[in-house]
Amino acid sequence: MITTDHTVRTFHEFFRDRGHELVPSESLVPSPGDPVLFTTSGMHPLTPYLLGRPHPLGRRLTSLQRCLRTTDLDEVGDDTHLTVFEMLGSWSLGDYGGSPSLRWGCELLCDGFGIDLGRMHVTVFGGDEQVGPDHESWRTWDELGVPVEPTTHENWWSNGPTGLCGPDSEIFVWTGPGTPHGTPTTDDRWVEVWNHVMMRYVRHPDGSLEPLSRPNIDTGLGLERLVRILQGTRSVFEIDLFQPWLTTLPRLWEPLDETSVRRLSDHLRSSIVVLGDLVVPSPTGRGHVLRRLIRRMLTTLWRDDPTRSLSDLPIELIEHTLGHFRQSRHPHDVRTVLLDEERRFGLLLHRGRQVLSHRRFTGPLSDDDYRYLHDTHGLPRDLVVYLETENATET
Ligand code: SER
Repeated sequence: MITTDHTVRTFHEFFRDRGHELVPSESLVPSPGDPVLFTTSGMHPLTPYLLGRPHPLGRRLTSLQRCLRTTDLDEVGDDTHLTVFEMLGSWSLGDYGGSPSLRWGCELLCDGFGIDLGRMHVTVFGGDEQVGPDHESWRTWDELGVPVEPTTHENWWSNGPTGLCGPDSEIFVWTGPGTPHGTPTTDDRWVEVWNHVMMRYVRHPDGSLEPLSRPNIDTGLGLERLVRILQGTRSVFEIDLFQPWLTTLPRLWEPLDETSVRRLSDHLRSSIVVLGDLVVPSPTGRGHVLRRLIRRMLTTLWRDDPTRSLSDLPIELIEHTLGHFRQSRHPHDVRTVLLDEERRFGLLLHRGRQVLSHRRFTGPLSDDDYRYLHDTHGLPRDLVVYLETENATET
């Protein structure tokens, strides 16, 4: 079995052999002055260099970057979504163009990782009113013998409404049984693993596109998704990286259904990594994202049995996570914050139940009720909604 560590080594060696220097992984917290809450993709720490500043390690780079995305929180528990995940990446800062990048991508997946060419499908940018179709990528894939599906919005990568952007080409691998069929947009058993962005423009606030004087190539490959394919597991949660979670949690808090095990593993692990990057739970900003994650995890944990507690969690799971991400924070400090948040949330729920048992709140709640509960009793709307659901289930 090819392990997660071996996958990372294979990727980096492949790109090192092709002149790329390894950039160390950065924290999930972007540098001071960056308005973004968390690093959401491998290219994020490289933004100034993609905009033209010379990078001290040169024009060909590779990395493994931890990322956090909360846009898909409700999807976590399915086969592919994670809150904290790792992205392998390769970059050409104004060096080689799109075609070599796609060819290397194909070579590494097929020869390096043993994925059959017949299980691959790609998408390319088909053009819109501002930018023409990405003929170069299309031609390259045709020459390599990989089927191509053109799309418009799905194949335009941007980092937000303004800033760096460009057409991209995404590589999908068939994860269903038997011979692949359909296309990436018609069958979700085509799983996207690697995105190659031809980063050629900066978008201005008026929507216009300014070509970069030195266009880049930015690629990002979701590590856990690739390993899932290489290890042939049903979901990302069954890969070697998650084994300690999957073997420990169901024994610790039985009975737990599969989705709850996945959610608890994801949210707990993500909270530990965020704490490892020295974020402190708080009512706003990064700390709020962390607090929400911990509270979502606790509501899942307590749904069937309110006596369950994070104090049951073996310290080895915290150590394993901090160790994997090479974070130096002491595991006992992380555990202390988790237990403190658990205690706070327990008290808040207790107070919320008392307040909501008042006659005034028996019917459906109005916006004024929610505002009053928040402003006077410190009960956030999502918590009140949670308690209402709890009431509805009990009655
Ligand atoms: N920026 C692209 C992505 O996040 C490729 O790195 O998918």
